[in-house]
Amino acid sequence: MSSRVKVVVTGAAGQIAYSLIPRLVDGNTFGDKIVDLCLVEIPQVVSKLEGLVMELEDSYFPNMGEVTYTDNFEEASNNADWFLLVGSIPRGIVYEGKKIEERSDLLKINGGIFVKQGEAIGKNGKNDAKILVVGNPANTNALIGKNSAGKESQLWMAMTMLDSSRAKSVISKKTGTNIKDVKNMIIWGNHSPTMYPDVENVLIDGELGKDVIDDMKWVEDHFLPTVQQRGKAVIDSRGASSATSAAKAALDTIIACENTTKEGNSFSAAVASDGAYGVPEGLICGYPLITLSDGSVEIKRDISMSEFAKKKFQISIDELESEREAVKHLLK
Ligand code: NAD
Ligand code: LMR
Repeated sequence: MSSRVKVVVTGAAGQIAYSLIPRLVDGNTFGDKIVDLCLVEIPQVVSKLEGLVMELEDSYFPNMGEVTYTDNFEEASNNADWFLLVGSIPRGIVYEGKKIEERSDLLKINGGIFVKQGEAIGKNGKNDAKILVVGNPANTNALIGKNSAGKESQLWMAMTMLDSSRAKSVISKKTGTNIKDVKNMIIWGNHSPTMYPDVENVLIDGELGKDVIDDMKWVEDHFLPTVQQRGKAVIDSRGASSATSAAKAALDTIIACENTTKEGNSFSAAVASDGAYGVPEGLICGYPLITLSDGSVEIKRDISMSEFAKKKFQISIDELESEREAVKHLLK
């Protein structure tokens, strides 16, 4: 394995990035590798990145390599190993005189960003580049980007790790289990209120959730809505969307992809369906994933789902299909 890694981060002057970027070079995320950073912003704010670079230089990060910033994504994408596509407009802000509250507004505004970025990644990124889309609507943005990139050897993911961590926290509180002993929390479907956090297959202190939690009323009335609506709850309280938790989730996704998954474990992200679990091909869908010893990431295929779980999952699949339909003019 190479001892250097080049990471491109878009939205680098935004709030998630401020929490995320320092931790890419702190020696925890990429281990001993030297991390070259290329930070990308829109022309209106790119000059702010000069200050962020000063702060990075002032922070004493022994693993930090070359740090550059630009408003030219095409140039930034050259030979990169990892792309963290955070740059996009969040919910909860006023954009062109209108408060952005609906996912459909985000689809219209943000979808277009991923056509050009996808093309550049396909052309200039490493053949085995990994791309994590954080910017919302993350699954469908990743669909657009992957389609524009047109390179099967690159791995496009949309982030559902934050949903998985949120769900672990709720389970940990309910069962009085330390959060480190809550594992394999699968998020099926879309990073949206239709997602299905899998309460049956989560491991709670080594036992399956279905054998520990026998309170379906709690699952339906508390667990599912709390996890599905957590993004909105944070926006309502902070007046801004989750930032430090989103950054931590992006780092956890990278760590999960950079290290071989332990036997029996899995992690959560959305990747292109190849028909697994009956999902229409091509949709970027939340799945349980494993990283193999050769560094490749695969869908874990031996999870059994109850009729209840399948019904909930189908709602999210239907939503992903309708999002694909809404952006079909952006797909080749
Ligand atoms: P923010 O507004 O603080 O920062 C976004 C930054 O992206 C801005 O600085 C903006 O200038 C930049 N940007 C916009 N278009 C760009 C482009 N084409 N190229 C490069 N940069 C561009 O927003 P934030 O709070 O950091 O959130 C970023 C995104 O992440 C939002 O879409 C938000 O909804 C999403 N989000 C996703 C999750 C998740 O779990 N998947 C969690 C939280 C937030
Ligand atoms: C979140 O889950 O916190 C983000 O996707 C922000 C949002 O709009 O919900």
